Amino acid sequence: MLKVAVLASGRGSNLVSLLESEKAGSLDAKVVVVVSNHPQARALSVAREHGVESLICPQPWRQEDREAAQTAMSDALQEREVGLVVCAGFDRVLVGSFVRRWEGKIINVHPSLLPAFANTLHAQEEALSHGVKVSGCTVHLVTEDVDGGPIISQAAVPVLSGDDVASLSARILEQEHRLLPAAVSLYARGHLRVEGRTVVVGEG
Ligand code: GRF
Repeated sequence: MLKVAVLASGRGSNLVSLLESEKAGSLDAKVVVVVSNHPQARALSVAREHGVESLICPQPWRQEDREAAQTAMSDALQEREVGLVVCAGFDRVLVGSFVRRWEGKIINVHPSLLPAFANTLHAQEEALSHGVKVSGCTVHLVTEDVDGGPIISQAAVPVLSGDDVASLSARILEQEHRLLPAAVSLYARGHLRVEGRTVVVGEG
């Protein structure tokens, strides 16, 4: 069974969707560890409530310090024989050495239709201020190009008049909760093949 590490900085609703999918037998993988850079993150208590190991790995702002922190995180994941790293609301950029060490084995969920509103922690707010009529979410493989890796899946949602950040985020989040576990399952079953910058979904 594929062992998954989930990196989460905040509330952890995507983590919940992964754990529920695992419980329902549809993840085809097992979440073995949850790593957060914030000791108070709700995601850590979600992990504990589900009996999943949780680790705190602070991510300092200084590049060299962050490199060291992510090397330690990498070692911890390797020790646990993790085969897939899922960024589910992780608010720090993964450094090049981490991404290279886990090449092709990191998935991220981003709350916009990439490549629109990439590399920001405020994608929904930016979508609203840009006045787009459609937004959504993207699940993609992580490369050193932040939010620019091959796209596994996307879901669109309408932007409605009267929307604010909270209402748009909630509409997008509903789709994230559907797409992310499905992408993990496809990965686990070996149904994702990368051709250039395109992910081909299907058996074999
Ligand atoms: C999600 O919208 C995710 O796309 C973004 O941060 C949010 C995390 O939510 N990167 P949660 O912590 O999974 O509830």
